[in-house]
Amino acid sequence: MSVCIVTGGGGPRIGNGICRALVGKGWDVVVADRELAAAEAVVEELRAAGGVAVPMGLDVTDAESVREVVAATVAEFGRIDALVNSAGVGLRKDGAEATPEEFDRLHAINYRGPWTCVKEVLPVMLANGGGSIVNIGSVHAAGAAETFTLYAATKAALAALTRGIARDYGLRGIRCNIVHPGAVESRGNAHLLDEFVANRQMLPTAIESIDIGNAVAFLISADARAITGAELFVDAGTTAMLFEQEHSQRV
Ligand SMILES: NC(=O)c1ccc[n+]([C@@H]2O[C@H](COP(=O)([O-])OP(=O)(O)OC[C@H]3O[C@@H](n4cnc5c(N)ncnc54)[C@H](O)[C@@H]3O)[C@@H](O)[C@H]2O)c1
Repeated sequence: MSVCIVTGGGGPRIGNGICRALVGKGWDVVVADRELAAAEAVVEELRAAGGVAVPMGLDVTDAESVREVVAATVAEFGRIDALVNSAGVGLRKDGAEATPEEFDRLHAINYRGPWTCVKEVLPVMLANGGGSIVNIGSVHAAGAAETFTLYAATKAALAALTRGIARDYGLRGIRCNIVHPGAVESRGNAHLLDEFVANRQMLPTAIESIDIGNAVAFLISADARAITGAELFVDAGTTAMLFEQEHSQRV
């Protein structure tokens, strides 16, 4: 039995896909989210599929809330083998347009939040002899795009944190990696996604949340035991493509 905490696990997009993938691979999953009702709904689905899952309320900006989730997980399962930091929020504004309050909120959730979760989970993992952490970044960590400046900076910081944690604790059995999703399909973005798939991906396939979940499931598994400090782009080729051309012109 291996136990994983997924922050933002109640999310309708990537959080949900990660939880489904992990349960499918036999992980026991703590679905931790600021929206407890959303976490409960995801857990209901996971249990219906035969999985072991527990919902917990969590605010990653509040260290006490993080400590409570870590303690409740240890009380329930006796161990924590993996942590996936998926809780995150966006902000669509050009660089200088955001307010200081928006800047602070973005960093509190997307960057300090994962750091707080790592900080609180590490002692439990180290006492167990090791563990695996996966952070959820974004393709925006790798390049600039209109209105994404401040969001991108939080994800680039998270990538740097990932490498640092991998270095600092590797000798003590901790692996830490980051998955950078591209544009993930979700209800309501079909029109935008068609344009994105046609012009900004190498593959003509819409990325689904389960694709992100499968990459995370690989990275936290023993199959990835030699992988740490790595950045894995699950973006259908977006980041690797220098020039954009519609598919009709490419084939
Ligand atoms: N959706 C995409 O196309 C996409 C692309 C690249 C990266 N990402 C990243 O993937 C992650 C998931 O994003 P998503 O858009 O798929 O959303 P999602 O559907 O997974 O929902 C995010 C969840 O995070 C939770 N959350 C927000 N603030 C929180 C807090 N302070 N404490 C605890 N939980 C909190 C929300 O309640 C929500 O359930 C984020 O880190 C995001 O930046 C998403």
